[in-house]
Amino acid sequence: MDHNFNDENNLPSRKADHVKLVIEEDTGIDRVSNGFENFKIIPSAIPEVDYREINMATSFLDFEFKAPIMIAGMTGGYPEAEKINKKLASICNEVGIPMGVGSQRAMIKNKNMIPTYDVKKHFEDLFLVGNLGLVQFNYDFGINEYNECVEQIDANAMALHVNAFQELCQPEGDLNFSDLWKELETLCEKSKVPIIGKEVGSGIGIEDVKKFEQVGCSAIDVGGAGGTSWAKIELMRYDGEGSPPFELNDPTLKWGIPTAYATWEASGNTNLELISTGGMYHGLDAAKALAMGTNMVGVARPVLQELVNNGEKSALKWIENYIETIKRVMFLMGVDSIETLRTQKNKLIPMNDAYFWVNSRKNKL
Ligand SMILES: Cc1cc2nc3c(=O)[nH]c(=O)nc-3n(C[C@H](O)[C@H](O)[C@H](O)COP(=O)(O)O)c2cc1C
Repeated sequence: MDHNFNDENNLPSRKADHVKLVIEEDTGIDRVSNGFENFKIIPSAIPEVDYREINMATSFLDFEFKAPIMIAGMTGGYPEAEKINKKLASICNEVGIPMGVGSQRAMIKNKNMIPTYDVKKHFEDLFLVGNLGLVQFNYDFGINEYNECVEQIDANAMALHVNAFQELCQPEGDLNFSDLWKELETLCEKSKVPIIGKEVGSGIGIEDVKKFEQVGCSAIDVGGAGGTSWAKIELMRYDGEGSPPFELNDPTLKWGIPTAYATWEASGNTNLELISTGGMYHGLDAAKALAMGTNMVGVARPVLQELVNNGEKSALKWIENYIETIKRVMFLMGVDSIETLRTQKNKLIPMNDAYFWVNSRKNKL
């Protein structure tokens, strides 16, 4: 994601650092889970479906996909990112699912970096989601830069990420978030492609879901807690003067709505299409998110780790297994299509923390 505008020359090395840290270090937060373990599914005693006939196809933003998962935006903007994005694109192309790129700010600053994002020149049928930080529109980005990001990579949709907590944890992070709803509304009016409002680890509560809908977004990624923590990553590589805003064991790092609870709140309570990202590392959790009603499940860190450590074939296999796990859960629920799976919210039983969350938020929904 993006960093302060005074630090242009360091942008490529920051991007490379991110990938390295995500692969080599524990970038989750101790005892913060995505929350899905707190939901049980009521099984179907006699499932009455033929496993081989289960249909994983789905639609999202008026496009058809072979499965309801996507590789969430990660990288671009430094030379080695070209290979990574090309391999991720090849996997998504093969499986028939969407792919996101990382923030495109680096390619606006340095046009030589465009090829590191422009994977559709290799896979023209790929559904590609572009990416920019919304806060940049309070600094030196405007509609021209936005359009350039869409056009240069032929993006099918554009994710505008909101990352207040991450910015707070960076030396000289971009902390002017004032008037950004208005800015987002203007971008939604002018954009030629659908806009996805994207959190990256703090989760989006129903109050904000409604605002994303009002300003004209087409979808949101609820980006909940329980997966990669960008606050932690920035604190791990803090190189500013003085001390960082938080120590790594500060309780504030547990900030955010777990992905399960954010998904629960949003689904059925908005017309926006939904993506559930943040610690979605197992097909069982993905099946639960889909049963709640989400449209797409986003995965970032585990795919990147698999790709970098074990190669493209292994990352492809990881995704295929993940999809197969969703299918197995569907079988046990007696559900033969993603469309039907998405109507099964009443088969999910909230327990423990989830029970309290669901009940205490009832009057907001
Ligand atoms: C190496 C890496 C770089 C990322 N860069 C971006 C980015 O530039 N823009 C963005 O919106 N999200 C970015 N993300 C966040 C992911 O899209 C995702 O929301 C987050 O990592 C949580 O998913 P996970 O728990 O599966 O990793 C990045 C994630 C990783 C792992």
